[in-house]
Amino acid sequence: MIRENLQLGCKEKKGFAGVAAELPRSSGNGNEDMMASRHQIALPVCHEQGKHLADVLNARVSVRKYAEVDVGLGDLGTILRAAKKGDLNDWSKENELGVELNFYVIARNVESLSRGQICRYDSAAHKLELIGCSDPQEEICTLQEEFSCAPAIIAVCGSMARSVAEYGAHGYRQILTRGGAAVQRAATVAISLGYVGCIFAGLYQRPLREVVGIDGYHETQLLAYSFGRP
Ligand SMILES: Cc1cc2nc3c(=O)[nH]c(=O)nc-3n(C[C@H](O)[C@H](O)[C@H](O)COP(=O)(O)O)c2cc1C
Repeated sequence: MIRENLQLGCKEKKGFAGVAAELPRSSGNGNEDMMASRHQIALPVCHEQGKHLADVLNARVSVRKYAEVDVGLGDLGTILRAAKKGDLNDWSKENELGVELNFYVIARNVESLSRGQICRYDSAAHKLELIGCSDPQEEICTLQEEFSCAPAIIAVCGSMARSVAEYGAHGYRQILTRGGAAVQRAATVAISLGYVGCIFAGLYQRPLREVVGIDGYHETQLLAYSFGRP
């Protein structure tokens, strides 16, 4: 049932531009117009326990090759929630000012998601909003092929425009730092749940602009994490 719903807009293989043309385009910071018409999927209750932090730190190493096994939807939600919650806790003033981080998922092998599905994490509702579709491997949307083949990628974005408006040039460094911390948190939780992965620069700007509506300034990709089962 869920899988059927998610395949809406994803049944035929299409390139970035083909799917993007069917999506409502964004204005302003790129998100409001799309919200109403997006399909959504509720994420399961988050796991509260994983491996001990000391074990995670001891085992931590970057891995760029993964098993052809689905990332669990509950695991994905747990990782996203931890990354978002950490930023809300650490940067509460900035979040109150509207300088927020957004999390996008590019799915290749994720439970209940179609291959190539691109989703935005709605942290308030703990849901994924389905906003586009393209096979990352076919489109080669990352510089390194191994990341295009990853079961899941989480791309962390933030508004450069809002950050710079609040803090001047320092806003640029600040939002990059926040993106780094969020991705590190995602990686730590993923490893605690038995995944392996690699922090990397992220997707090319073109697919982000064409499918997700990220223009690079009002919303900017900061960093990404690819992961899967070892
Ligand atoms: C901000 C940042 C961006 C990175 N971008 C990439 C990248 O695009 N591709 C890549 O292969 N490694 C990238 N890395 C490096 C890996 O994440 C990792 O730090 C490195 O391979 C060291 O391996 P280790 O984690 O096993 O110590 C990046 C690291 C950082 C901190």
